[in-house]
Amino acid sequence: MPEIREKIARLIHADAPSLALTDNVTSAMSYIAEGLTLKPGDEVITSNQEHGGGRSSWIVREKREGIRYREFELGKPIRDPQQVIDTIVKSFRPETRVLVLSHMITGSGALLPVKEICAEARQRGILTVLDGAQIIGQVALDVQDIGCDAYVGCFHKWIGAPPGTGFMWVRPEILKNLWTSVSSYQWNNHEDEGFRFTQRGTGNYSVLLGLEAALDFHFDIGPQRVYDRIKFLGNYLREGLRKMPKVKVFSPATETMCASITVYNVQGVTGAQLQDAFWNEARMRPRSQGDEFCVRHCTHIFNSKQELDTALRIVRKVAG
Ligand SMILES: Cc1ncc(COP(=O)(O)O)c(C=O)c1O
Repeated sequence: MPEIREKIARLIHADAPSLALTDNVTSAMSYIAEGLTLKPGDEVITSNQEHGGGRSSWIVREKREGIRYREFELGKPIRDPQQVIDTIVKSFRPETRVLVLSHMITGSGALLPVKEICAEARQRGILTVLDGAQIIGQVALDVQDIGCDAYVGCFHKWIGAPPGTGFMWVRPEILKNLWTSVSSYQWNNHEDEGFRFTQRGTGNYSVLLGLEAALDFHFDIGPQRVYDRIKFLGNYLREGLRKMPKVKVFSPATETMCASITVYNVQGVTGAQLQDAFWNEARMRPRSQGDEFCVRHCTHIFNSKQELDTALRIVRKVAG
């Protein structure tokens, strides 16, 4: 495990002792939400577009302990980074203690200006917890440069590691005071803070070997090369879609806020219908977002420009 923690630390530009291996984002976020000392009336804020695994543990604390939980509204599509910064700064209140935020919003693929947001929060003494479920293995990450207080992520998405692999990084001065919620012998051993949270009984260690292989593969290619490739493909898809009058793209209008995830719909067509068209015509699986009548289309390094031409042809056909 020490080698794996070192490799994750290298990936996110963090120090290994402040890093815990977790099963996924949901468990990592829960460790932070349950472990922070907050009193009734202290407020936790987040966006209205968070994943259940990112926000639910804070709602549990609201129900159990009377902390306040509030969501602010982010646009969809988001126009530009300043719009997000302004929205968040306006929603800070004197009682706000924690800001929880996706680094990339799942439902739109919007890459948020987290560095500027964390700086605004820090000025006001507000703790920042970022959910990087969609970032790890997609966008090169440096948690020190971002200046957040905590960052959680998983490896089964963009790194392609086995499910059941994730991490939690917390700034050392905060981590030392974080209570463990899943505890074993080392729960109070502050010599290795990250391990206090990594030790959680007998788990499936074989998935960690899969994780290590996936990390090595990712490093062999290089995080920046991965990003450049998926960004090129994502951009190509969005350019094609934006030329079609009946297609609405929900990913941000500013291309610097986009990477590989593109969310869109076709006027008069449900997400499920579009998903089926992709599958029936080309065995492709952009995923329906159900309630919002759109699909989420992800391009990874193993996708090709030719595949995207096929995808665009299918969308054009569905749009009539
Ligand atoms: C932003 C975000 N947070 C949390 C999760 C849940 O991640 P995990 O399954 O690793 O708990 C997801 C999964 O899609 C996500 O997109």
